[in-house]
Amino acid sequence: MLSTEAAVQQRLAWLKDEIRRCDYAYYVLDAPLIPDANYDALMQELRLLETQFPHLLSIDSPSQRVAGSPLAQFASVMHAHPMRSLDNAFNDEDVMQFWQRMLDKMPQLSPVFCAEPKLDGLAMSLTYQEGVLTQAATRGDGEVGEDVTLNVRTIKNVPLVLQGHSFPSRVDIRGEVVMSKRAFQRLNAHQDALGAKLFANARNAAAGSLRQLDPRIAAQRQLTFFAYAVVAEGELQYASQWQWLMQLKQWGFSVAEQVTQVTGVDALIAYWRNIGVQRDELPYDIDGVVYKLDDIEAQQALGYTARAPRWAIAHKFPAQEVWTQVLSIDIQVGRTGALTPVARLAAVAVGGVVVSNATLHNAEELARKDVRVGDTVVVRRAGDVIPEVVSVVTHLRPQETHIFEMPSSCPECGSPVVKEVDKAVHRCTGGLLCPAQKLRALAHFVSKKAMDIQGLGEKVLEQLVQANLVSHPDDLYRLTLEQLIQCERMGEKSAHNTLTAIQESCNTTLAKFLYALGIPEVGEVTAGTLAQHFKTLDALMVADENSLLQVDDVGPVVAQHVRLFFDQPHHQAVIERLRQAGVRWPDIVDTNVTNVSFLLGKSVVLTGTLSGMSRDEAKEVLQSYGAKVVGSVSAKTDLVIAGDAAGSKLTKAQALNVTIWDESQFFTELSILGWQR
Ligand code: IVH
Repeated sequence: MLSTEAAVQQRLAWLKDEIRRCDYAYYVLDAPLIPDANYDALMQELRLLETQFPHLLSIDSPSQRVAGSPLAQFASVMHAHPMRSLDNAFNDEDVMQFWQRMLDKMPQLSPVFCAEPKLDGLAMSLTYQEGVLTQAATRGDGEVGEDVTLNVRTIKNVPLVLQGHSFPSRVDIRGEVVMSKRAFQRLNAHQDALGAKLFANARNAAAGSLRQLDPRIAAQRQLTFFAYAVVAEGELQYASQWQWLMQLKQWGFSVAEQVTQVTGVDALIAYWRNIGVQRDELPYDIDGVVYKLDDIEAQQALGYTARAPRWAIAHKFPAQEVWTQVLSIDIQVGRTGALTPVARLAAVAVGGVVVSNATLHNAEELARKDVRVGDTVVVRRAGDVIPEVVSVVTHLRPQETHIFEMPSSCPECGSPVVKEVDKAVHRCTGGLLCPAQKLRALAHFVSKKAMDIQGLGEKVLEQLVQANLVSHPDDLYRLTLEQLIQCERMGEKSAHNTLTAIQESCNTTLAKFLYALGIPEVGEVTAGTLAQHFKTLDALMVADENSLLQVDDVGPVVAQHVRLFFDQPHHQAVIERLRQAGVRWPDIVDTNVTNVSFLLGKSVVLTGTLSGMSRDEAKEVLQSYGAKVVGSVSAKTDLVIAGDAAGSKLTKAQALNVTIWDESQFFTELSILGWQR
C-alpha cells in the first residue's frame, strides 16, 4: 500500500520511466523488453494512480498520448526556422552538377556525405522545451504550418520526453511522418469493410490521419516518425550531420536504418542504386535518397537558395505513381471467357517503364473507382507489379463523360455475356465458338475425361489453330494424316496414332460428350446426372429451366448455363456437325427398374484397386446407372465398392455399417443390370 504522497510520486516516476523504456525498445528498437501482458499491467497501474492522484498527472506521462478532445480546426504555427524543401536530381549528371556547384564555391570541400533514404510521407517539426514535446507542426508553406500536436503525440515512436540529459532548452526536431505499407494495406482493408473511402497511397493515408481533428482516430492509425535533422541554437553543436543523427538516436528517435556516411560522388550513385534495388522490399514508401554534405561548417558557409539548401539534394527514383489520361476502356476476353476491362492510357513512364494499358480487374472494381473515358487517373506500378489504375482525379473530369457499362455481348464472338451469380466476373457464353477461348475449349474437348483423344496436347492444338486447320471441335474429325504430320514434333507414327485416337473417340457416352462441350458449371458429375436424367441429347437440348431444375443437384446457376448454351445457334451447329462427323453414343436404356433403382441416386465410394476395370471406368459405369460417386465415406454413404488393398475407407465403412461389395460382387451386380463391356 502506498501511503505517503512521496511514495506515490516515486512509484509514478518509476512507472513512467519503465513504460518509456519499454515503448522505446518496442517502437524504436523493435526489440520488446517484456511481454505485452506485463506492459499492460504497468500501464494499468500508472492510470490507476493518476486517477487517484489527479494533481500528479503530467502531460508527458506515457498514459497521455491520446489526450484532449476533438478540435474545431488546427491552429496555425509560425516555424521558428523555415522548413525548406530540397532540390531534385533525376540522373547521375544532375548529381555531378550538384557536387560541381559546391566545389565552385568551396574548392577545398571534402566529399563526405551523409546519405539517407527520402521517406515519402509528411515533413514534421517537433518542438521540445526542457526535453518535453510541446508542439508538432506540419510544414505548411515552409513558414507557417498547422499545429497537429495532439495527433503527433499518439505516434508511438515519438518520444514525449527526450532521453538522457544533454539537450538544449529548446530544440526543433525535423523528420517525416509515414505510414508503413502494411499499415496502409490494413487500413484500406478496414475502410473497405466499412464501405468507407479508400486512400490512394500510404502518403495520403498518413496525411489524412494527421489531419483528423479527433486525436482518438489518429491514435488508431499506425503512423511512424523518422527524424532526420535538428535545429538547435546555442550550446549543443556537432561538426557533422552524421553526429546529429547519432544524437537523435540517443534522444530516443527512430532514424532510418539505411542512413550512412559515404565519400565521393561515385559512392553517392552507388548508394542510390543499392537503395533502389531494396525499394520494393522496404517497409515504407521512399521516393528517392537524400545526399547531405556531412560537414556542418561547410553547410553553413554554402547556405540556402530561396527554397532549398545548397548543400543537399534529393536524388529521385522513377515515380511509381503518375497521372495520365484514359483514352478508352477496352474489354479483354480471357481463356476462360472472363471479361476484363482494360484502360488504354496516354503513354507515361511509371516505375521506370512506359505504360499504356492498365487493368481495371472487373466490373465491380471499375464501378467502385468509377473510371471513365477522358478521365485523368492515378496510375501506379511498384516493382514487378502490373500497372494499376489507383483512382480518378475527379476534379479534372471533363464534362461529357459516361459511366462505363460492361457489354452485353462478347467483343470477340458476339455471344451473350452473363454476370455470374454472387461473383464479380462477367463471362462470355461463347465457349467452343469464342476465339479467345478456343484453345482452352479444344484442350478440354480432347481431354481424358471428355472425348479422350490422346496425342492432341496444347502445343499441337495451338499449331492446328494457328494453321487454320482447326477452329471448332468438329474440325478435328476432318484432319488428315498429312496435316497432322506437318505439326512440329509430330512424326508419322504419332500422327497415325492421333488420327486413330480421333476416330475412336467417335464412340463415346452421352455423359462424356456433354462434359466435352464445356458448358460453364457442368463438370463431370453434372454431365453424368443430366445424361441419366434426360437419356437423349435432343431431350436435354429442348429442356426448359424448370425441367432442368428437377434434376438432382442442378440449381439455378447450372440450369441457366445449360439453357443459354443450347439456345445459341452456333452451339447447335457445332453439335450437329459433330454428329455428322460420326460422334455417337449408346442409348441409355431403362433396364430392370427394380435393379436400377438400387443404384439410382445412391452415394457410392470406390476404394482400393479393381483388377478388371480402372477407377475412372468403374465411376463412369456407376454414374451411367444413376449413382453418385463420391470421394469419402460418411454416414450418408450407401455403398462402398472395395477392391484390393482397400484401406481406411473400408475400415470406416465397416464401422458405419455401410453395404460393402467386393470386386466380384460388383461385377455380378453389373451383369444383373445388363451391363456389358
Ligand atoms: S532534409 C533543409 N532529409 O523531402 C533540408 N528531407 O523534398 C530539408 N524528406 O520536405 C529536408 N526524407 O519532407 C530531408 N532524409 C531526409 C528526408 C527528407 C524525406 C522530405 C521532407 C522534405 C522533402 C523535400
